[in-house]
Amino acid sequence: MMEKKLGCFQWIALCSLLLASVVSSKHHGNPANDLVDVINKNRTGQRLKQLNTSPGLGCMALQYAEQCNGNCTSNNTLNCHPPEDDFTEVFAPNCGVELPTLGTISGLIVGCQHKYLEPLETFSHVLVRDKKTLSLLSNKTHSEVGVGMIRTHKGSYWCVLFSSSSHTNSSFVLEALGHGIKQKKGCFSGTSTPCSSGRKKTSPFFGSILIMFSLYICLVQDF
Ligand SMILES: *[C@@H]1O[C@H](CO)[C@@H](O)[C@H](O)[C@H]1NC(C)=O
Ligand SMILES: *[C@@H]1O[C@H](CO)[C@@H](O)[C@H](O)[C@H]1NC(C)=O
Ligand SMILES: *[C@@H]1O[C@H](CO)[C@@H](O)[C@H](O)[C@H]1NC(C)=O
Ligand SMILES: *[C@@H]1O[C@H](CO)[C@@H](O)[C@H](O)[C@H]1NC(C)=O
Ligand SMILES: *[C@@H]1O[C@H](CO)[C@@H](O)[C@H](O)[C@H]1NC(C)=O
Repeated sequence: MMEKKLGCFQWIALCSLLLASVVSSKHHGNPANDLVDVINKNRTGQRLKQLNTSPGLGCMALQYAEQCNGNCTSNNTLNCHPPEDDFTEVFAPNCGVELPTLGTISGLIVGCQHKYLEPLETFSHVLVRDKKTLSLLSNKTHSEVGVGMIRTHKGSYWCVLFSSSSHTNSSFVLEALGHGIKQKKGCFSGTSTPCSSGRKKTSPFFGSILIMFSLYICLVQDF
C-alpha cells in the first residue's frame, strides 16, 4: 500500500514538473517593444528626441524580417534584399496599412543571429555595429520607429524601420486598429501581443491531459 501511494505522488510530482517546464519555456513579453525602448534610451542619451512607436511600421518590419528568414549566413550577416516595391505591394497590404496613410520609410536596419540574444545585446552586437547604422539611428529627421522580430530554428531576425512622417499617429494607420492582423510568427512593436515562436502552441488541454493521466495511474495502482 505504502509503495503504491509513493508511486502516485511521484507521478503527480513528475507531471507538475513537466507542466512547469512547458509553461516557463514559453517566451512572455514583447522583445520588439523592448528594443524600441533601447533605441529611445540611446537617442535621449545623445539629446535626440524619442521616436513614436508606430504599430503599422512595426508590422511591416515584421514582414521584412519574415522575408529574410533563412538568409542568415554562418557568420551572422544577413544576405537579404527584398524588392523595394514589397513595402507597398506586399507588406502594407498584409498588415492592413491604409494606403493613403503610407508614409515614407527613411531608414532601415536589419540583422540576424543564429543564437537568440536579448534586445539590449541585439542592439549593440547585431544591429548597431558600425558608423553607418549608428548615424541612421541618430538621424534627427526620424519621428517614428517600428521593430519586427522573428525567431525560428534558422535564427532570430530583427528589422527596424524609421519614418520621418510629420503627422504623428496619422501615418501607417492600421485598418480596424490592427485587430485584423493574424500574427502567426514573431512580434512587432506598438502592440502588447506577446511574441509567438511560430511553433504549435501547447494547448491548455495538454496540462489537463497530464493531470488526468496521473490521476488515472493513481486509480489503476490503487485497485
Ligand atoms: C548608443 O549606441 C552606440 C552603439 O551601441 C554606443 O556606441 C553609444 O555609446 C550609445 N550611446 C548612448 C548615449 O547610449
Ligand atoms: C561573412 O559571410 C559573407 C558571406 O558568406 C562574406 O561575404 C563576408 O565577407 C563574411 N564576413 C566576415 C567578417 O567574415
Ligand atoms: C535569400 O537568399 C537566397 C540565396 O542566396 C536568395 O536567392 C534570395 O533572394 C534571398 N532572399 C531575399 C529576400 O533576399
Ligand atoms: C537623415 O535622414 C534623411 C532622410 O532619409 C536624409 O536625407 C539625411 O541625409 C539623413 N541625415 C544624416 C545626417 O544622415
Ligand atoms: C495622437 O494620438 C493621441 C492619443 O490617441 C491624441 O491625443 C493626439 O491628438 C494624436 N495626435 C495627432 C497629431 O493626431
